[in-house]
Amino acid sequence: MRHIISITDLSLEEINELIKSAQDIIANPDRYKESCRDRKLATLFYEPSTRTRLSFEAAMYELGGRVIGFSEASSSSAAKGESVADTIRTVSCFADIITIRHPKEGAPTVAANHATVPIINAGDGGHNHPTQTLADLLTIKNEKGRFEGLTIGLCGDLKFGRTVHSLITALCRYPDIRFVLISPEELKVPSYVKLPLKEGKVPYTQTTDLVRVLPELDILYMTRVQRERFFNEDDYVRLKDSYILTLEKLEYAKTDLSIMHPLPRVNEISMAIDSDPRACYFRQVMNGKYIRMALILKLLEVQA
Ligand code: CP
Repeated sequence: MRHIISITDLSLEEINELIKSAQDIIANPDRYKESCRDRKLATLFYEPSTRTRLSFEAAMYELGGRVIGFSEASSSSAAKGESVADTIRTVSCFADIITIRHPKEGAPTVAANHATVPIINAGDGGHNHPTQTLADLLTIKNEKGRFEGLTIGLCGDLKFGRTVHSLITALCRYPDIRFVLISPEELKVPSYVKLPLKEGKVPYTQTTDLVRVLPELDILYMTRVQRERFFNEDDYVRLKDSYILTLEKLEYAKTDLSIMHPLPRVNEISMAIDSDPRACYFRQVMNGKYIRMALILKLLEVQA
């Protein structure tokens, strides 16, 4: 039995296999329509979500399986004080695989310690979001055809943005990647995430100036400032519009730039950019469903 708590729970070879599997699902969806017949996925979401929960649910339905779960802690017995451990022991009786999102870092690890079925971390606090990273990697592969030789700009809230933490960790394992980390001083990447960069394994630069570095980038990964992780509303208000990507700024970018965003978007990308062919973020959403289908198949050890 495997759990996916961090992207490091998958080897590079396994990640590449998942990408290939997702590409095969995209090309041959009918082949997978009954793959998870009579299997159940539980989605336990203690924190709001649109894409992750619904893409997991759509993924399981498209594999012929069924879905149970809750979309907020207040509608579960967590509201009466039940622990994550007891909830997981209970749901393990009902489901073949469980995905959990929780505001507390480490909650999916607790879940894995008490589960009798595979656990997938669907985002824990400001820590990790490994399945978003799988969606991001599939998107990069589909848009660019490769990982090697890319200059990747990560922009916005790099301190609390869990998708950025998991993505840096994953991309560090590919050769010939370069990072440009663009954030306000207060929202820099935490040291524990930056460790492989600091050890000199992957070249990177840090800046507060998006426009200055825009011409260098092959990929621009925008993120929102994570209001829910701030201790102080005044700090959030001061920092929330640090970066707003507009069509005017895009004039400085490469013509084949890929603009990504894990979403939800608040104000970081002008809606006028949505129809620009460089905007990949809604294709990225669709990729999230396909890569989660591939992951469910892998963890349930189902052959298509
Ligand atoms: N990208 C992402 O995690 O979106 P949701 O919060 O809507 O699931």
